Amino acid sequence: MESARVWIVTGASRGLGFALAKEVARRQETLVICARNVEKLVRAADELRATGATVHFAVGDVADREFGRRFINDALERFGRVDVLVNNASLLGPSPLPPLQSFPLDALQQIFAANVLGPLFLAQLVLPRMIAEGRGLIVNISSDAAVGGYPGWGGYGASKAALDLITHTLANELAGTGVGAVAIDPGDMRTEMHQAAFPGEDISDRPLPEEVAPAIFQIIEKELTGARKQRRDGKSGSLGEAQESSGVRRRWRYQAQEVVPS
Ligand SMILES: NC(=O)c1ccc[n+]([C@@H]2O[C@H](COP(=O)([O-])OP(=O)(O)OC[C@H]3O[C@@H](n4cnc5c(N)ncnc54)[C@H](OP(=O)(O)O)[C@@H]3O)[C@@H](O)[C@H]2O)c1
Repeated sequence: MESARVWIVTGASRGLGFALAKEVARRQETLVICARNVEKLVRAADELRATGATVHFAVGDVADREFGRRFINDALERFGRVDVLVNNASLLGPSPLPPLQSFPLDALQQIFAANVLGPLFLAQLVLPRMIAEGRGLIVNISSDAAVGGYPGWGGYGASKAALDLITHTLANELAGTGVGAVAIDPGDMRTEMHQAAFPGEDISDRPLPEEVAPAIFQIIEKELTGARKQRRDGKSGSLGEAQESSGVRRRWRYQAQEVVPS
């Protein structure tokens, strides 16, 4: 029997990361999670473990490469594989959101370290094992701010746009390996980050992350299967050729709202 799949979910102590981790845990799949605040992370891990799932956690910042290296290596040593890396942890930056004209560049650097370089670094660390196994998925959580050009959202939005391009390029570079890369925009959700973006405003009309997570789980399942199906067959030429001839192009970006969870 195949062992339980192993998921790494960054930023899983609250918000969308925690909601997605709950989807994984209730299916008894294995979780490796992280966040910076120890108390909240321990509480989240305890709640996830109450489902009976195996949950390993590490306290740290995804922008810190030393932490990232330990986090991923530890997961690989403990569980021998990683099926899905969900780069969910993210920084919004200063609140209220400053316009680009006066955006503090130190803050912008921190945003890019957490939202772009961190996710890419974690992907670089898991990809060799995923490619060797011929299966796996890198999931980068995006935002409509990546394309919106909304006033005030330029810093965070630029980081998500960079993450999108990284995802798109990775998806193309990985074609035929059995491993995929996908960006998912969850849409507005009632979370701490969203409240920080709209300080003092009533955000109670936004859906809870628990309402969005099932659609994201469904997209991930579909993409995992799709990437494996397109694994290169040594005898039939390159996957690129196979895709060209069949007219199939792999998707790399989704919006959670377009999926109705089944
Ligand atoms: N909420 C929305 O409306 C919305 C819309 C579009 C896209 N998104 C995206 O959805 C994802 C989740 O957002 P959310 O609203 O659930 O955020 P959230 O409520 O702020 O939760 C973020 C989670 O990530 C952790 N985290 C933040 N920075 C981290 C870092 N540098 N290293 C490690 N962990 C870190 C937080 O814990 P600690 O603070 O303890 O580290 C927390 O567990 C993000 O990628 C966000 O950009 C959100």
